Amino acid sequence: MEKIRIALDGPSGAGKSSLAKAIAKNMGIVYVDTGALYRSIGLYVNRQGIDPHSPEAVAACLPDIALSLAFNEQGQRVILNGEDVSDKIRTPEMSMYASAVSAIPAVRAFLLETQRAITRTSSVIMDGRDIGTVIIPDAEVKIFLVASPEARAKRRYAELLAKGETCTYEEVLSDMIQRDKNDSGRAIAPAIPAEDAVFLDNSDLTFDETVEAALAMIREKTEG
Ligand code: DC
Repeated sequence: MEKIRIALDGPSGAGKSSLAKAIAKNMGIVYVDTGALYRSIGLYVNRQGIDPHSPEAVAACLPDIALSLAFNEQGQRVILNGEDVSDKIRTPEMSMYASAVSAIPAVRAFLLETQRAITRTSSVIMDGRDIGTVIIPDAEVKIFLVASPEARAKRRYAELLAKGETCTYEEVLSDMIQRDKNDSGRAIAPAIPAEDAVFLDNSDLTFDETVEAALAMIREKTEG
């Protein structure tokens, strides 16, 4: 198989990571979750008691951060200064920290090469917000996955409950709308579709239907 790079972008909670995992498995390629990198910086900043909205304070701590991605049977692991933080970054608080630090240009510059390096050596499906616009502008396939805020909040709420987190649907929906605003309204690398991205709206699709639709889009792009 020729090397293939699939950029999967879209708002929070559209189901990018579940979809990307299924496609990676189906095609035998690597799944890269770039949100985990921003979340790890969020975690570091949180542990240091740094204001995540302060570009100066966050930029000043970047030289103290060593971040890398590792891949094993469980999929991607993210290593922050030698510690596997893959599970610790999956909380609503870290979502907000990640959203705040991701708006800081120095943070995006800091993470650029880590993301691009993987795409040079492996076939990947990479999910994020600016993969098709900034990280892999010449990706073979670009998909922009969307769903209504209510559909996304409903799914995220069910996930959090299943993990034993205590929260209400209303909180999840309002966090979701706030993150959409931060992520698509920011000046740098906003979460907007690349000009050559194809849209996939899964508000009314089951998971299997979403995977099927995405695979059909990939086939169409790659088989000409
Ligand atoms: O996909 P996620 O929810 O794990 O992402 C966490 C935050 O990081 C999200 O608010 C937006 C930001 N992010 C980004 O700005 N660019 C990316 N490529 C991935 C995530």
